[in-house]
Amino acid sequence: MERTYIMIKPDGVQRGLVGEIIKRFEQKGFKLVAMKITMPSKEHMETHYEDLKTKKFFPGLIAYMTSGPVCAMVWEGKGACLEGRKMLGATMPSDSAMGTIRGDYCIEVGRNICHGSDSVESANKEIAHWFPEGVCEWESCEASWIYE
Ligand code: PPS
Repeated sequence: MERTYIMIKPDGVQRGLVGEIIKRFEQKGFKLVAMKITMPSKEHMETHYEDLKTKKFFPGLIAYMTSGPVCAMVWEGKGACLEGRKMLGATMPSDSAMGTIRGDYCIEVGRNICHGSDSVESANKEIAHWFPEGVCEWESCEASWIYE
């Protein structure tokens, strides 16, 4: 089953949105297989966003992302990467549809609450980066009510 890396950014944690975001993923039918609250180092975050290091906004992004704890999670389910991104909404909050997490809860790209892997390949890389210890493999008793 596909897995995606979802991270609640420091603004989402400080604004008390952890429960709301977990609720949405659980209610959709995805399964939580790893989660931790962690204060990432600058180096750890720079590696996470290494593809963006030439962007003008990179220093600001790293300062924001290391300004407080993040909630790192791995969610599992059919189409988890694409569906997860749809649930987060467009990167630019002004483009995010109402009903999505960003559409409902934020205004600026530099405080856009959450991160989600953009592909299965990125998810595998991000999961290994944030959870080198691996994830929890468990059987959901609800699976037959979610998948035919
Ligand atoms: S780009 O320029 O097209 O590669 O960027 P994009 O794919 O839109 O976004 C990549 C991540 O960078 C974050 N981002 C920003 N952060 C702070 N300030 C500004 N101006 C900014 N622009 C983009 C954006 O939220 C993406 O991070 P994640 O964690 O995936 O949301």
